Amino acid sequence: MKPLSRRSFLKSTAVLVAGTMAAGKVFGANDRIGICTIGFNGQGGSHIKDILGKANEAEIVALCDVDKRVLDRMVSAVGSKQGKAPKAYEDFREAVQDPNVHAITIATPNHTHTLITVVACKAGKDVYVEKPLSHNIWEGTQLVEAAKKYNRIVQHGTQSRSDNTLIRDMGLIHKGFIGKVMHSRGYVYKNGNRFAIGHGEPGTPPDYLNWTLWQGTSPDHPFMKNKDRKDKPGLYVHYDWHWFWEYGNGEIGNQGVHEMDIACWGHNRGLPIKVYSTGGRYAWDDDGQTPNTQATSFTYEDGSMVTFEVRNLGSFQEADGGDCGNSFFGTDGYYVRRKGFFDYKNKPIPVNDPLPEDLDKWDRFFRAVRSRKEEDLPVTPYDAHISCVHCHLGNIAYRVGRSLEFDPKTLTFKDEEANKLVKRQQYREGFEPVA
Ligand SMILES: NC(=O)c1ccc[n+]([C@@H]2O[C@H](COP(=O)([O-])OP(=O)(O)OC[C@H]3O[C@@H](n4cnc5c(N)ncnc54)[C@H](O)[C@@H]3O)[C@@H](O)[C@H]2O)c1
Repeated sequence: MKPLSRRSFLKSTAVLVAGTMAAGKVFGANDRIGICTIGFNGQGGSHIKDILGKANEAEIVALCDVDKRVLDRMVSAVGSKQGKAPKAYEDFREAVQDPNVHAITIATPNHTHTLITVVACKAGKDVYVEKPLSHNIWEGTQLVEAAKKYNRIVQHGTQSRSDNTLIRDMGLIHKGFIGKVMHSRGYVYKNGNRFAIGHGEPGTPPDYLNWTLWQGTSPDHPFMKNKDRKDKPGLYVHYDWHWFWEYGNGEIGNQGVHEMDIACWGHNRGLPIKVYSTGGRYAWDDDGQTPNTQATSFTYEDGSMVTFEVRNLGSFQEADGGDCGNSFFGTDGYYVRRKGFFDYKNKPIPVNDPLPEDLDKWDRFFRAVRSRKEEDLPVTPYDAHISCVHCHLGNIAYRVGRSLEFDPKTLTFKDEEANKLVKRQQYREGFEPVA
């Protein structure tokens, strides 16, 4: 199927906006939510698997992917599991218009998250969007606005927000359990599937991939073959787009956005007024652009700070057995994720508060879709946006190579080169995600 022309896209957008008026389905207790998952080479496959396991709540009524091999395989797998094949779409703009779809889940590359969310909101659909919800700062503002303007439920894919231990512990931190938090720290040193990705050369996209729709918001660029990895369709496709600024946000905006979200959640100061970031893509010989080692610091109006570290080459076990983590340092003690609260003599501080309700991310999403209440979401679109902005700020400071002063009200810097990175300089015509 060919991508829609600008004229037919605008026409379909008008239909979508009109559709908003009609999209007021009130779910009865026995009604199942009709889901369309968009993009499922990797994480979208987990969405589908999880949702198939909640058949009382929801049904996969449609699937959309621009890779026909990925699409055909999943349509057939879901059809066998559900006893009814979902409708198959290549183009998300058509998928969101399907009247059987009430909500969509998005697990495409980062540069199309906001676009698909905004188009879906306009079509009157609720959205579960993978992290980060935006590819740049401006896009995040459009996503927040779209959720509000079209009265849609939009949940961000940082699942730690649904973790009941973290919900309790972040609440305690907010109440002053370790005094006033002055330093919040996030760290990622995942290196299991992080390595040199190879070198590219211009080539023809495979006939099973719609390269125009894959590029989405990005203007046309040549499809790049991978000279060193014949097992991959190309240099960017699939997954390795994370390491190119045009499509991804590097590790700080990949695994990092999970820990950044927790760092911002506990620190709870909104946006910073200063950011500095340094590092490099060390040891690897490849075409990837984003750093595999990056240290970033944020300073807030009240002088408090967040620091964030990425080390894809590995590290010692500083995250209590994991390969990513968070710690918070207050005036009276500190908190380490997975370990708990301590005073400054390193003595554990007992917690007597009970754990809140244990619900996973899908339970929370479905509950909010039914109730129409933003309070039922584990994180509001705005708070999720704030966390994503931190990742973007870190990358902007890294890319310009100097310390930056940032105005949280206008979302601009005093630095003109940095301001050029607040929004993509050029969007594909008809694919600009304006709420
Ligand atoms: N929450 C988590 O723990 C978690 C874990 C892994 C990945 N993710 C997120 O999920 C997203 C996807 O990651 P992945 O590793 O699965 O990437 P991937 O590149 O392996 O898969 C992306 C899929 O989207 C499809 N796609 C691309 N553009 C599309 C479009 N315009 N319309 C429809 N389909 C399109 C591709 O063909 C592919 O099948 C990323 O944003 C990533 O950050 C989240």
